[in-house]
Amino acid sequence: MLIRNETANDIAEIRTVVTEAMTMLAQSTGTEAQIIDRLRGDKALALSLVAEEDGRVVGYLAVSQAQIGEQDSWGLIGPLAVLPSRHGQGIGSTLMAEAIRRLRTTFQGAVLVGDPRYYGRFGFRAYPGLGVGVIPPEFVQALPFDATEPRGEVIHHPAFGLKQQR
Ligand SMILES: CC(C)(COP(=O)(O)OP(=O)(O)OC[C@H]1O[C@@H](n2cnc3c(N)ncnc32)[C@H](O)[C@@H]1OP(=O)(O)O)[C@@H](O)C(=O)NCCC(=O)NCCS
Repeated sequence: MLIRNETANDIAEIRTVVTEAMTMLAQSTGTEAQIIDRLRGDKALALSLVAEEDGRVVGYLAVSQAQIGEQDSWGLIGPLAVLPSRHGQGIGSTLMAEAIRRLRTTFQGAVLVGDPRYYGRFGFRAYPGLGVGVIPPEFVQALPFDATEPRGEVIHHPAFGLKQQR
């Protein structure tokens, strides 16, 4: 499996992988592929990684910049998606490891909204006072790359369509 930056040729396949993967997620809004398109259109994809196997996109991970409180140098991971037929084969973990490795060079930490049972294995955890609107705080998790504790509202790019935006 190859993890690499997206190219223009991947865009249609990314939409398919993300749309199919999100059918497995109860909390999905069904708009994740559109969010990625909007981020791309706004040149706001700090990282757009595909997992390629046999010339096909089987997994995808996006990162955009987010603000936490006064700190504006957080890499927001998501959406992360793996083709349902390929779940449980390490593709999501490989994408996460590569994203974290790259984010360390440019951001003060990584943050995401997701299931703590999955993201805990990469070192993510909830922090007191860290949140996103009405989302239960245990689902808002960060991985600081230095000693700074993330505290405050995570402000997403407007492409996410959340109330509080950058
Ligand atoms: C979450 C997702 C990206 C994981 O990708 P993957 O390639 O299957 O993950 P990996 O193979 O690296 O890891 C699989 C492990 O994660 C666990 N796992 C996957 N999703 C999980 C979840 N929501 N909660 C807890 N554990 C989860 C699996 O049980 C498996 O555990 P094991 O290692 O103990 O066997 C993939 O399942 C997916 O696309 N899901 C639908 C979309 C989604 O939920 N995206 C994340 C939004 S926050």
